[in-house]
Amino acid sequence: MVTAVAYRLASQRKQIDEILASFQLSMENLIEVKNKMREELEYGLKKETHPIATVKMLPTYVCGTPDGTEKGKFLALDLGGTNFRVLLVKIRSGRRKSVRMYNKIFAIPLEIMQGTGEELFDHIVQCIADFLEYMGIKGARLPLGFTFSFPCKQGTLVGWTKGFKATDCEGEDVVDMLREAIKRRNEFDLDIVAVVNDTVGTMMTCGYEDPNCEIGLIAGTGSNVCYMEEMKNIEILEQIEGKMCINTEWGGFGDNGCIDSIRTKYDKEVDEGSLNPGKQRYEKMTSGMYLGEIVRQILIDLTKHGLLFRGQISEPLRTRGIFETKFLSQIESDRLALLQVRRILQQLVLDSTCDDSIIVKEVCGAVSKRAAQLCGAGLAAIVEKKRENRGLEHLKITVGVDGTLYKLHPHFSRILRETVKELAPHCDVTFMLSEDGSGKGAALITAVAKRLHNIDKYLYAMRLSDETLLDIMARFRREMQNGLSRDFNPTATVKMLPTFVRSIPDGSEKGDFIALDLGGSYFRILRVKVSHEKKQTVQMETEIYNTPEDIMHGSGTRLFDHVAECLGDFMEKQQIKDKKLPVGFTFSFPCRQTKLDEGVLITWTKRFKASGVEGADVVKLLNRAIKKRGDYDADIMAVVNDTVGTMMTCGFDDQRCEVGLIIGTGTNACYMEEMRHIDLVEGDEGRMCINTEWGAFGDDGSLEDIRTEFDREIDRGSLNPGKQLFEKMVSGLYMGELVRLILVKMAKEGLLFEGRITPELLTKGKFETKHVSAIEKSKEGLNKAKEILTRLGVEPSHEDCIAVHHVCTIVSFRSANLVASTLGAILNQLRDNKGVTRLRTTVGVDGSLYKMHPQYARRLQKTTRRLVPDSEVRFLLSESGSGKGAAMVTAVAYRLAEQHRLIDETLAEFKLTHEQLLQIKKRMRTEIEAGLRKKTHENAKVKMLPTFVRSTPDGTGSFIIIDARAAW
Ligand code: G6P
Ligand code: G6P
Ligand code: BGC
Ligand code: BGC
Repeated sequence: MVTAVAYRLASQRKQIDEILASFQLSMENLIEVKNKMREELEYGLKKETHPIATVKMLPTYVCGTPDGTEKGKFLALDLGGTNFRVLLVKIRSGRRKSVRMYNKIFAIPLEIMQGTGEELFDHIVQCIADFLEYMGIKGARLPLGFTFSFPCKQGTLVGWTKGFKATDCEGEDVVDMLREAIKRRNEFDLDIVAVVNDTVGTMMTCGYEDPNCEIGLIAGTGSNVCYMEEMKNIEILEQIEGKMCINTEWGGFGDNGCIDSIRTKYDKEVDEGSLNPGKQRYEKMTSGMYLGEIVRQILIDLTKHGLLFRGQISEPLRTRGIFETKFLSQIESDRLALLQVRRILQQLVLDSTCDDSIIVKEVCGAVSKRAAQLCGAGLAAIVEKKRENRGLEHLKITVGVDGTLYKLHPHFSRILRETVKELAPHCDVTFMLSEDGSGKGAALITAVAKRLHNIDKYLYAMRLSDETLLDIMARFRREMQNGLSRDFNPTATVKMLPTFVRSIPDGSEKGDFIALDLGGSYFRILRVKVSHEKKQTVQMETEIYNTPEDIMHGSGTRLFDHVAECLGDFMEKQQIKDKKLPVGFTFSFPCRQTKLDEGVLITWTKRFKASGVEGADVVKLLNRAIKKRGDYDADIMAVVNDTVGTMMTCGFDDQRCEVGLIIGTGTNACYMEEMRHIDLVEGDEGRMCINTEWGAFGDDGSLEDIRTEFDREIDRGSLNPGKQLFEKMVSGLYMGELVRLILVKMAKEGLLFEGRITPELLTKGKFETKHVSAIEKSKEGLNKAKEILTRLGVEPSHEDCIAVHHVCTIVSFRSANLVASTLGAILNQLRDNKGVTRLRTTVGVDGSLYKMHPQYARRLQKTTRRLVPDSEVRFLLSESGSGKGAAMVTAVAYRLAEQHRLIDETLAEFKLTHEQLLQIKKRMRTEIEAGLRKKTHENAKVKMLPTFVRSTPDGTGSFIIIDARAAW
């Protein structure tokens, strides 16, 4: 009998142990979870797999943690956790930085959580109204930050989780729903600035105290993590600078079945009975909303098997949700005597024995331990990723944590910590409990976002949609057509100038040349030797010469005297003063040409404004200046625009190159056009390079809709008001100044530098385009901003630096986008010319802005591909400037000139003088006479044979023809 009882008890124990064992995770299990989580994180970040990833990795557009400069008065809503709160948050910055909060908790009845979207949002607005009333601030239109603890993608609810299931909300914009509800109520207005996940709110709340806090963890009703990720790893955003907070939404981990091996039948039952079956599987194993429910399922099972409560399942135990996680926390408390456990069970009408209480406690322990371990394994994956991101052997990091499970459960936080320590041994993780909830963090984000919103108000017009860019592309294509047509060219703004360059280098060029390169950042003189032994090689020697402003703005004669003087110096240095080398002249201004060695300047652009040059042929002016000196001679064979020089330089390496693009001091492009489309030059065969001079696009008012007040100010202050309006929105000579003007205006409005404006900031040209490039550098950008702004006399806060970075990005992005649209028009023209559906081509590019700006090239290429999807464009950077290309053009011109000379020499032998002709006539006459005379006829060279035809037709049929076949 005793044995039988002992046997029964042992078998019962075995059954219980088996159930408990299914919740025990080995070290291998946990490592596998960590590795799988890591894989899923990467999946969510990758562009290709992001849309189907179970760990959604949602960008939050929060790019930094608080820096203490946030300030203002904000409203915050906090929806999605155990409590719904409305808060008023007052933030003070500076030395006495502080946050004061007033909050009120409101209930959300179940029928509202699971009713219609309208009912839910009307209820929220009702609670806000009560709060405003209660605080006596109904009239104030405060900025509002909304902690909305559900997965949102760019403000749109992806799907409800936890206990919410209101209809008509999924796929909708959360701010819109709230705004509409406020409108429906029509009682007050709010400025809804930011929607924030609770993980992000928590990270920010903790980040306010500890700048090392770059992770936010929620172990509460739901389970989730956010962390600061390197921008370059977030493929879907395609940006490389800085960091952004990613809301992982790790609750969905395992929804693809990847952790099914550790899910128990109880997990599956809980899932099936939930509001969102099949979803949030990891959350359902780790968060407060579900742990009690798992325990309930186990208890029912154990009771059914007669292992608990004498086999009696009470009615309450059958009720879903009755076993709350708070019971689990209480039962597991070490301080609780078994008697008290029994009391808790009694609330569920469960009549428990002492043994029952022990078993229930064991069950609770197994379920919560597994939850904490799983959570720890997931977190280990995140901290490890952060360590690897930073390339560190050892990482020290703070995790901000919130949530009832973490806060109330007696063992959860300890087990979590231990697991992380074990699974991420190289990371020293500090857990910081968020004392103030997510509302504070949401208010901090709102403070930053509010400022950026205000900035964006200014810069709104600079953000060009793809629709606008496509429209600009179409406009530019029309301008190109006008420029090419004989009828419209005289009035066209985009001049489409024929260059008389007919092909790119073919590899046969050779010789010793001089290239002058005037009009960009530097005035260069080069000697280019192209030799042709085994293969074509180019050897170059370069000197840079200064061109002082007074020369650029003085008389044309002085300017060309200066050029001639520098050339003389160069030839002296090269010891070639006695030679007459062929010269190619890169002259980077719009010139009308009727042949290669002539260029009539239409108008000065950029920094130049020398008098008496516009309307004159620059080759003549230079020749005159050289002659005047008389100490050397030069043979200027070609005038070449820098775009053409660039196309030729790149064409030397890539035969497919048929576009030359400059984004430097100025901007412009050239391309190979079909002769049949060029009305201004005779002939229909082959192609000719057209210098578009697109800098003047918009000079007829066609870009007024996108020009801003800052663009107009730039134009007014320039050397050539009303001209080169497109160039002034795009190129390096103007970009820094554009940013400066925006900064001044923002500072005046109190949006920057606490409203302080320094004389340096007010000085034209003090903020240079190279500063824009430095500030947009991914790693040190913000430090550079601080350095540059400090030099301008302002004491920028971290937030000022972020704002200035933002302005730089918007201005330089606009430039790249605009160039993408005009370039797109050229690409479309080339594609149509070739009659292909997909264009494969190479664009040769040069210019300081393109080369020095860290993001420009990538942005330009990306937008171009988007605007002209049916193309495969290679952007080839010109490494050696336009000089090499100009030398190539000169080589071709020289070769042609040489050929002409040779032909002339050869043909010269065939040329007969008048004298020679008279002599021939005389000799012929003598020979004819000799041939006719009987005496000499026999030996005559001109045979003069009678034909017996006696006359020309006279109607009688008889005639004589003399056959004067010459024998010579
Ligand atoms: C935070 C919040 C909540 C949030 C919660 C998570 O601090 O302010 O809104 O959702 O913690 O915990 P809970 O246990 O309430 O879900
Ligand atoms: C080229 C040249 C320059 C030209 C420039 C444009 O390669 O050789 O003379 O004008 O690039 O760039 P920049 O930034 O100097 O205006
Ligand atoms: C939600 C998350 C949230 C978490 C914690 C999950 O159910 O999907 O957005 O952060 O709960 O509240
Ligand atoms: C000039 C062009 C030149 C471009 C790039 C513009 O201002 O008009 O001829 O190609 O600058 O240097």
